[in-house]
Amino acid sequence: MRIDIVSLFPEFVTQVAGHGVVGRAQERGLLALHGWNPRDHAEGNYRRVDDRPFGGGPGMVMLIDPLRACLAAARAADPAPAKVIYLSPQGMPLTQAKVRELAGEPRFILLCGRYEGIDERLVAAEVDEELSIGDYVLSGGELAAAVVVDAVARLQEGALNDAESAAQDSFAADGLLDCPHYTRPVEHELGTVPEVLMSGNHAGIARWRRQQALGRTWQRRPELLDEAALSAADRKLLEA
Ligand code: ADE
Repeated sequence: MRIDIVSLFPEFVTQVAGHGVVGRAQERGLLALHGWNPRDHAEGNYRRVDDRPFGGGPGMVMLIDPLRACLAAARAADPAPAKVIYLSPQGMPLTQAKVRELAGEPRFILLCGRYEGIDERLVAAEVDEELSIGDYVLSGGELAAAVVVDAVARLQEGALNDAESAAQDSFAADGLLDCPHYTRPVEHELGTVPEVLMSGNHAGIARWRRQQALGRTWQRRPELLDEAALSAADRKLLEA
């Protein structure tokens, strides 16, 4: 899949995405990232990309024309049609379901704002979706774009190693928080590994993990249980 990033700091996103699973996905040819800078499409000696807001107030607003030309260049770089996704705190919340949907697209464009935001006429004319990564304000859309790239890249077929994909499946499919994990040593001054995990009893281990996942979800994010795929056995474990 191909993701184009339109930003005043495109390297910010492409560099963050150069490591770990996302870096590997690129090396394996599963993901191509391309950065585009609206400043390269701005006119005049100063290559101006922003101006003061009409109506007054603090901060600056990103100009329509450099962004529009930059989006046109990004679109034209590949014949496949691309949705434009604007990262902003006013967007719909990013969820794993949305990540799965985006992971199935052949390409899309991530549009990052800076300052107070982007002229609303550009948003109305060019943006297909607006997404937020949470109810807090970042100083630009770049970190949010990196979050989208990471979450989408790891779902590309072949991006994760076997062990990683197994873990991923059990978590993502049922909408619960993950269970706790332990490794060596068994005994440590900070505590002992739960005995069941060393029992070799696979059914017992699976039941313990499920119970932990259910318990944590119930304690920390009870609202997730409304949407989670729960079996009759799960409901029993929750009541236990
Ligand atoms: N840009 C600034 N804050 C943001 C947020 N919370 N999500 C997405 N983009 C943003």
